[in-house]
Amino acid sequence: MPVDLSGPLRSEFEKAREAYEKARGEGNSQRASEQAAKCARLLSLLADNIPHEHRSYKDKAKKWEDLARSIKEKGLREPREPEGDVRPAGLEFRDYIEGLISTSEITWGDIGGLEEPKRLLQETVVIAAMKKPEAIKPWTGILLYGPPGTGKTLLAAAAAGSLKATFFNVSADKVLSKYYGESSRLIAALYEVALERSPAIVFIDEMDALTLSRGGDSNEASRRTLSTLLSQIDGFKSKKSQRLVLTLAATNTPWDMDTAALSRFSRRIHIPLPDAGDAIEIIKLNTSGLGIAQVDLNSVARECHAGLFSGREITYLCQEAVWNMIRQENPNLAQLSPLSFDELRGKTLKTRALKDSDFHAALGKIKPPLTEARLAKDSQWASDFGG
Ligand SMILES: Nc1ncnc2c1ncn2[C@@H]1O[C@H](COP(=O)(O)OP(=O)(O)OP(=O)(O)O)[C@@H](O)[C@H]1O
Ligand SMILES: [Mg+2]
Repeated sequence: MPVDLSGPLRSEFEKAREAYEKARGEGNSQRASEQAAKCARLLSLLADNIPHEHRSYKDKAKKWEDLARSIKEKGLREPREPEGDVRPAGLEFRDYIEGLISTSEITWGDIGGLEEPKRLLQETVVIAAMKKPEAIKPWTGILLYGPPGTGKTLLAAAAAGSLKATFFNVSADKVLSKYYGESSRLIAALYEVALERSPAIVFIDEMDALTLSRGGDSNEASRRTLSTLLSQIDGFKSKKSQRLVLTLAATNTPWDMDTAALSRFSRRIHIPLPDAGDAIEIIKLNTSGLGIAQVDLNSVARECHAGLFSGREITYLCQEAVWNMIRQENPNLAQLSPLSFDELRGKTLKTRALKDSDFHAALGKIKPPLTEARLAKDSQWASDFGG
């Protein structure tokens, strides 16, 4: 299989173009001419790497070549950078973007507790979707923030599931590292596809990755990506678009986000750790059909709360408790391993209602990663900046 070099070549092109712009800004004609010639060479290589766009890349390479020559001969007065993008709008990103789409089967009922954040998000989504007077401008960008494992992704998926919207699940960090230097165009293309597939929810996970200071070139790349993203979010506020594209962003570390980015997410919803009441709801969701009438739920929930368990840890806890029950009821499971699939299908796993002891044994095994200090920072941020 031929090696696909288009990613690195594009990154190189992007760097050369930035160097060209910089040289131009500084009035350094020799360097500008060199960098324009480099852009031409890279575009030529790209043309050889992407057969279906060979012609278009060759044309662009030619324009950069002419530009390099013109600067060399006449200096920097005219012309400016060749018109046109490195590629036609987002076509090459299509496969990647299609891969980000997931149909969400999650509903609001799959989320335990979180009554207030759930209600806020439900209202926001409903207002955005309903027909309304022009004066009412719904939020099109919503930030979900809070400790890891508290249900941010789950809430975004439920919003998409309930609207039957196309759900784009985007990790800012992955997009940045995979499409270094190109992520800004990828985001623009993503919103084009989202508009086509509306109603759509674009979920940007690890939003902080886009605003973190990373030093050097990638800092520039993430700044550009961020500004494209923010302008896209704003763009959908315009009344010309009757179609619904909502952006939900999530972060565990909102304090890493810069103020410009934060100001665009005027709707900010804090997703805290579950309290004891929430913990009970999450346990019930995770043990439905198994019977928990004998379990002292209040006491287990109190332990979860005191141990700083997130929804994720409570889910693990329930899995562990169920596993304890299964092992106790079926002590010889491993001995059945020589049996074929058909033979195993003929047997039934023994189960019983869950007991306190199943949970107690499980509680010792779950080690939540959070600390009081980390949570205090989270609450402080929520009271200082949370919307
Ligand atoms: N409130 C909740 N109700 C039911 N299940 C929950 C809840 N919160 C978390 N969970 C469980 O924990 C898992 C992780 O939740 P989710 O991925 O939504 O957390 P997150 O806030 O996005 O975490 P991260 O910040 O690490 O991305 C879910 O898949 C679900 O099984
Ligand atoms: Mg998540």
